[in-house]
Amino acid sequence: MNKINIAIDGPAAAGKSTIAKLVAAELHMVYVDTGAMYRAITLAHLEQPDTSFETLVNAIDLKIINDNGQKIFLNGVDVSERIRENDITLNVSYVASQKAVREKLVGIQQEMTAAKGVVMDGRDIGTHVIPDAELKIYMIASVTERAERRLLDNQQRGIEANFDDLVKDIERRDHIDMTREISPLMKAHDAIEIDTTGMTIEAVKDKIIQLARKINV
Ligand code: DC
Repeated sequence: MNKINIAIDGPAAAGKSTIAKLVAAELHMVYVDTGAMYRAITLAHLEQPDTSFETLVNAIDLKIINDNGQKIFLNGVDVSERIRENDITLNVSYVASQKAVREKLVGIQQEMTAAKGVVMDGRDIGTHVIPDAELKIYMIASVTERAERRLLDNQQRGIEANFDDLVKDIERRDHIDMTREISPLMKAHDAIEIDTTGMTIEAVKDKIIQLARKINV
């Protein structure tokens, strides 16, 4: 397959990371979860709340290792699991709306995609980070299904969760992500929308693989 980039955007808990990881593995591409990068900055901010975002993003050492999944290191410490906890999820949309944070992370993401061969998921990948991506997917699902998926995911990670709180948190984050001033979440004009409500992971993955193969014939 020729080298292409695939951008997968959509609201919180729509299944982007799960699918992006599988698509990348099957197509021998590199998977990048950009939400994890915003989560790592959120952890740094919670640890140093008095530091300005500009100083914070310029001082931290953020390393992303993409090898059969993604590991993220903040100042030399593996924070891949820590960044899934509730305090991070509650604060991440606010941190992700900061100009200094977005500029820094978008720069890193654009470097990671320059040589192509990347499946990158997030909120502004098709609209802003790689607007020239060969394939753009906009993945959505009903709020109840997204909350159910997040509940299962949290239970598997041993994170305390309750369905009603998850619904509220997903709606709150969608609102912040969609209405923020800088590169809000929206469907790129050339993105293909997939509503994953009621679809199996396998079916969504197969659909994207099919679309990717069509580009490369
Ligand atoms: O995908 P996630 O839930 O891990 O993302 C966490 C937050 O990061 C999400 O609420 C919005 C923000 N985000 C963003 O603004 N831009 C991205 N490209 C990825 C995530």
